[in-house]
Formats: sequence, structure tokens, C-alpha cells
Amino acid sequence: MTILDQLAEIERDITASVSAAPAEADLEAIRIAELGKKGRISLLMRELGTMPPEERLRAGPVLNGLKDRVATAISARRQALEVETMNRRLENEREDLTLAHRQEFQGALHPVMQVFEEIAAIFADMGFSVAEGPDIEDDFHNFTALNFPVGHPAREMHDTFFLRPAADGSRKVLRTHTSPVQIRTMMSAPPPIRIIAPGRVYRKDWDATHTPMFHQVEGLVIDKTAHMGHLKQCLTDFCARFFEVERAETRLRPHFFPFTEPSAEMDVRCDRSGGEIRVGVGSDWLEILGCGMVHPNVLRQCGLDPEEVQGFAFGMGVDRLAMLKYGMPDLRPYFEADVDWIRHYGFRPWLIPTVTGGLS
Ligand code: PHE
Repeated sequence: MTILDQLAEIERDITASVSAAPAEADLEAIRIAELGKKGRISLLMRELGTMPPEERLRAGPVLNGLKDRVATAISARRQALEVETMNRRLENEREDLTLAHRQEFQGALHPVMQVFEEIAAIFADMGFSVAEGPDIEDDFHNFTALNFPVGHPAREMHDTFFLRPAADGSRKVLRTHTSPVQIRTMMSAPPPIRIIAPGRVYRKDWDATHTPMFHQVEGLVIDKTAHMGHLKQCLTDFCARFFEVERAETRLRPHFFPFTEPSAEMDVRCDRSGGEIRVGVGSDWLEILGCGMVHPNVLRQCGLDPEEVQGFAFGMGVDRLAMLKYGMPDLRPYFEADVDWIRHYGFRPWLIPTVTGGLS
């Protein structure tokens, strides 16, 4: 066999193993075995020197060509393997982030959370921001600063859950309303103030329309001129938007809260004759929230001067609003974690309510 035949056979041999190399590591092994310092081709190159001149003249260029072609074949195969590896990763490491297409996905947004979002969207559009406070409150924020005198029966009216007394005899409470967030807000930043405060509240109650934990949204507006007219229009607009009707009609009924003066409950006109409630028409009235002008004593407790600033506050029961809007007759299933119930009444969680894009 001539040297040329030998080289041709070597080339066939290498080309076959390069194109069959299953992984980059195998390819690297071939490269070292052929082109490495002690590789087969390198050794042949070195042998050129020992060949008779005539043979060297023929074999030299062939050997150089072989060396180049092998190097090119290896790098071509390396690139092909990289592409294969990437394609395999793209196939196997695929993650469906849309969830909508995942059959096993069954989560739904609880109606209370949906209504929280809707209320926040409406008030955000009116320029309110969201404030928060703790569920475990002290007596000062939940009662005293809100003008509940110590020992006053108004404290009993909330059927409070008290925590065990601390060493000094003071007892924290599970907040009975979101109104303590009014206090925290007024004590932390100067007016003008325009906030809503969504949250959980707690009272000793348990029947079809009362649960020991429920949800409220508080509202507070403090500036130099805010008055009952602003309060009424702001909340009337809210009702129309919340119940998704062209216009709503409301009335204020005198009421009592220690922390507002005057105080009122707001009713919205509705029609209940057809089994379901229609807002904006009819001859019935539906009570939907408590409200009033912030009491001067409350402003003083927060270090504000009632001669300088004034404002209004309101508080609404979110669970009740959800019942009214979405026709749920009983409050208790809200907190029973019943999969069938949530499937029936739940909302698709990726549809965020907006005033312009639609609430529900
Ligand atoms: N905190 C009152 C309640 O829970 C509601 C309310 C809030 C009334 C703000 C007036 C002003 O019943």
C-alpha cells in the first residue's frame, strides 16, 4: 500500500468517526488522537522528514490537505452538535408561563379578592392610594384615638376579640374595623390625605350574614375644605361604578359612630322584585356603608388642628358588597374552602379589574 493509499484510508476512517461522534467529548478525543501533539496525523507529519525526497514531495501536500480537512470536519461536527444540544434543551426545558393552556390549572380568585380589586380600581381612578395597618391592634388605635371613651358601651357594640393581657395589664385586640388605619395614616403624614384601607376585621359573630372574620375597605379624605357634599358625590359615583350602572341614587340616613360627626349610613336605590338586586332603579333601599365627617376629637388625637383641617371617612363591608353584586346568598361558604363553590363563584385571576377596561 502506498503512502497515498494509506492517507486516503486514514481520511475515510477519521471522517466516519467524526460524523458519528455522539457528543463533544468524543469529538475532542478524536481531535487529540489525530491532530494532538502525539496524534496520528502529527506523527505522520513528523515522518515526512524521514521520507525519500520524491515521496515527501507527493505526500507533503496531501498530508497538509488531510490535516486541514480533518480540522474543518471536526469543527463542523462540533457546531452541529451544539445546535443539536440547544434544540434538545429548547424542547425539554420548555416552560409554559401562560398557565391558561395548562389543563391542570384550576385556581380562581375568591370573590372577596375580586371585589377588593374592583374597589381599589375605582378609588385609584379618583386619586386615592392604598394604606394598610396591622390586624392585631392596640386599644389606642382601635378605640381611644377614635373617640371611644374608656368604659363606654360603644366598645361593647363591636364584640371584640381580646388577646391575653400583657404584663402591664393592657390587652391588644383583633381590630374590629379598619378605622384604626385612619389614625395611623393621620399620624404618619400631613394632609392632604386621600386613602383607602382594605383589610380583615374581626368580631364575635356567626350566622348566614356574619362571620367572625370579614373584610372592610376604609376611606379617608382630609384637607382644608372636604365636606358632606363631597362625601356623598364621591360615594354615589363609587356605587354607580361598582354596580356597573349608568347612574346610582343614594341617600344618607343619620346614624352614630363615635369617630364621625355628623355620622350617616348610606343606602343605594335598588329593585329587589325580580329575585336579584338591580341598582339604580326601583323603590327599595340597600344599606351599603357607614360614613361621616371626621370627629374633631379624632383629628386632635392625631395632632391635627380641627380649625385648620377637616374631612370625611367611610367604611364598607366587602363581603356584603360581594354578596350583593354577585348574588351569593350566604356568607359562610366564603370561608369553607369548598372547591365547587370557588369554581362556581371564583374569578379568573389574570383579569385585573380596571375602570376603563371593565370591572367584572
Ligand atoms: N368603622 C365603622 C364600622 O366598622 C364604619 C365607618 C368607617 C363609619 C368610617 C364611619 C366612618 O362599622
